[in-house]
Amino acid sequence: MAMQKKQRAKAKYTGYVATSIDGRIASGSHSGVNWTSREDWNFFQKSLLKYDAIIAGHNTFMVAKKRLEKRNTIVITSKVSTVKTDNKVVFINPKNTNVKNFINKKGYKKVAVIGGGHIYDFCLKNQMLDDIYVTIEPFVFTAGVTMFQGAYFRKYRFSLESIKKLNKNGTILLKYKNGN
Ligand SMILES: NC(=O)c1ccc[n+]([C@@H]2O[C@H](COP(=O)([O-])OP(=O)(O)OC[C@H]3O[C@@H](n4cnc5c(N)ncnc54)[C@H](OP(=O)(O)O)[C@@H]3O)[C@@H](O)[C@H]2O)c1
Repeated sequence: MAMQKKQRAKAKYTGYVATSIDGRIASGSHSGVNWTSREDWNFFQKSLLKYDAIIAGHNTFMVAKKRLEKRNTIVITSKVSTVKTDNKVVFINPKNTNVKNFINKKGYKKVAVIGGGHIYDFCLKNQMLDDIYVTIEPFVFTAGVTMFQGAYFRKYRFSLESIKKLNKNGTILLKYKNGN
């Protein structure tokens, strides 16, 4: 009798990003996010409770280490050769380890992609961004880390699922579904 390979259920990936009107998510790679509204912060923190794991870039992890250490966090970095585990935090180098396979093997079903700019781009390129919540805060930054820190131009199609005004200042929460 032929051996049947058990199909592992694939994880669903949801991105969360807060941006200025001009598409910037931070002033620099290590600057953190202290300019977002209380309403967005509450939405983000409440949302994270629903996820089995979180994916973050090494820069974002360094900025938000204290909070991320409390959750199942997968940190993408080139600084490790094999998977390195430190309590709830796992450091993975995508060059040597397939991140999606790792997540599926762990049995994670819902994964939050929390940035930064390099990680949104990494996840988008690797079909690890099914939905994305984009909060637009009413600021223009003129410079800074862009939402997707891609190396070359490519067009991905998304479809808008919902729009919500979060406060009187004009913070807007958009939900998009990946159309690719
Ligand atoms: N507004 C928001 O919603 C939001 C959300 C998240 C973060 N942020 C902010 O964004 C800034 C950080 O963004 P960022 O784009 O500079 O950094 P990032 O995406 O958080 O992390 C980039 C780092 O991740 C690792 N990495 C990324 N892609 C990799 C790959 N394919 N292979 C191996 N390693 C890879 C590298 O770390 P190594 O150098 O270790 O190899 C790289 O330097 C911070 O200021 C943070 O606070 C804002």
